[in-house]
Amino acid sequence: MGVHKMGSILALLGFLFIDALLLSSAYNVHHYSFILRETNFTRLCTTKSMFTVNHTWPGPAIHVRKGDKAFVNVHNNGDYGVTIHWHGVKQPRNPWSDGPENITQCPIKPGKNFTYEVIFSTEEGTLWWHAHSDWSRATIHGAIVILPELGTTYPFPEPYAEHVLILGEWYNGDVKQLIDEATETGADPDVSDAFAINGQPGFPNNCSNDTSYSLSVVPGKTYLLRLINAVMNEEMFFGIAKHNMTVVAQDGAYIKPITTSYIMITPGQTMDILLTANQAASYYYIAATPFFDAEAAYDSTNTSAILKYTGTYTPPTSPAYPTLPNVSDKDAANNFINRIRALASSDHPVDVPKNITKQIIITVSVNEILCANASCGGPNGNRLAASLNNISFSSPTTDILQAYYKNLLDVFEPDFPGKPPHVFNFTGEVDDSKLYPSVGTKAKIIKWGESVEIVFQGTNVLTAENHPMHLHGFSFYLVGTGYGNWDNVTSPKTYNLVDPREVNTIGVPKNGWAVVRFVADNPGVWYMHCHLERHSSWGMDTVIIVLNGNTNDTSMLPPPANLPTCS
Ligand code: C2O
Ligand code: CU
Repeated sequence: MGVHKMGSILALLGFLFIDALLLSSAYNVHHYSFILRETNFTRLCTTKSMFTVNHTWPGPAIHVRKGDKAFVNVHNNGDYGVTIHWHGVKQPRNPWSDGPENITQCPIKPGKNFTYEVIFSTEEGTLWWHAHSDWSRATIHGAIVILPELGTTYPFPEPYAEHVLILGEWYNGDVKQLIDEATETGADPDVSDAFAINGQPGFPNNCSNDTSYSLSVVPGKTYLLRLINAVMNEEMFFGIAKHNMTVVAQDGAYIKPITTSYIMITPGQTMDILLTANQAASYYYIAATPFFDAEAAYDSTNTSAILKYTGTYTPPTSPAYPTLPNVSDKDAANNFINRIRALASSDHPVDVPKNITKQIIITVSVNEILCANASCGGPNGNRLAASLNNISFSSPTTDILQAYYKNLLDVFEPDFPGKPPHVFNFTGEVDDSKLYPSVGTKAKIIKWGESVEIVFQGTNVLTAENHPMHLHGFSFYLVGTGYGNWDNVTSPKTYNLVDPREVNTIGVPKNGWAVVRFVADNPGVWYMHCHLERHSSWGMDTVIIVLNGNTNDTSMLPPPANLPTCS
């Protein structure tokens, strides 16, 4: 045996040794390939081409354990640029792979690809991924399932099996055309034609009886349902006929179990639900209906799937349908939401910031932008708009992360106001002069390590509505909500600092307020916006930039080599 060969055997042994070390290291690495392309789908007797991942709608699920890492190669074979966001994944120090178009990256152009490095940390439960370019998320989304670390278990009895249920929205027309037209005219975009559960509208929608999603259950067994609201513009009620559900997690964090006959879930949110098949063996409808409490058009249809018990019996001709709250029943919505508390156990502790070093107060409004000669398609011939602190966000063409990293001027302004520019009775009668926001691309700069409190104040400007506000790069504690105007003396007395839920998307109540807290320990550029897509398109967005700390470990990672270019 020559020296050369001996050397390579040693090298091989060395590799095996390193491999073994890697295998025994704290986390596992997963690889996924997403091919984005147009695919034909038929729903509601309508066939159309949709932009989807790997020919599926919803797209493929990502499965990891807490603290793992996933590399997702996204290859765009479509007709226009797109990006993917890992909703609720904090991506410590790695905004480069967060995804929002023109915020942390420029789009992956047709024919190009980009590999996202998705870094999991404290998340455990269910999250999801979706496109983050215009309205492409309607058809490009899927689940992220995060199991407990090896050697640890759920904080509830091991379920017999698990299923993902994704609430989505079907449009007979082309979604890109729909939002492009609305943006052009300034009008409210058309509403969807149906909701769907795992891509199927189900009963009572015409033409779809034969294609309902069905879930089969063994009598007596308990299932974990991972529910994701990927709907574009409506909050949803959800229930299963004759069955109670026990909600055990929200947004990738455990909560104290809540047993309930219905759920309210906003776009962006996820909920983990235990379901025990404890009723007579039969078929039962699983259904979702909109919760919509505003003066605007919405999709008023219902969607359903079927829960099928295994065994021998005669299936009913019309299975029981769940009784869900009325579309505008905000008390029903709030009664459910207000029950949610963090698990706050020794294995899953809460760590709510108590001494706030940075408070930001943000009004959340729907607005109008004046059009000359009433030439636009929105109310009063104006353009529909929306704002945070009266600034309607205008998306740049070079991403803000790159501009921040390279010190490029004229991409964004770092002066997003820390409080509302005008103070008035936000939730009272509002006169028309308050309708018009200013337009800008502004970011709020926060020092690393600050204990941040954000007060979201809903307003009655143009029309009051619930707003599911979402922040990238963090989860936050929802310490309080209320109706009317937030008050710096009385409101804090109602805060829950003991076991508030840790979430990434919170509903700011219609004509009310919500307060969240978090530690700004993740350096980077992080988008914050309403998860109702029309509001986000209208400018209900801003960017939070958390500066680097003093050490390497508290600073942003370097950019990946193959970031998409902007022009
Ligand atoms: Cu679910 Cu900015 O996103
Ligand atoms: Cu909104």
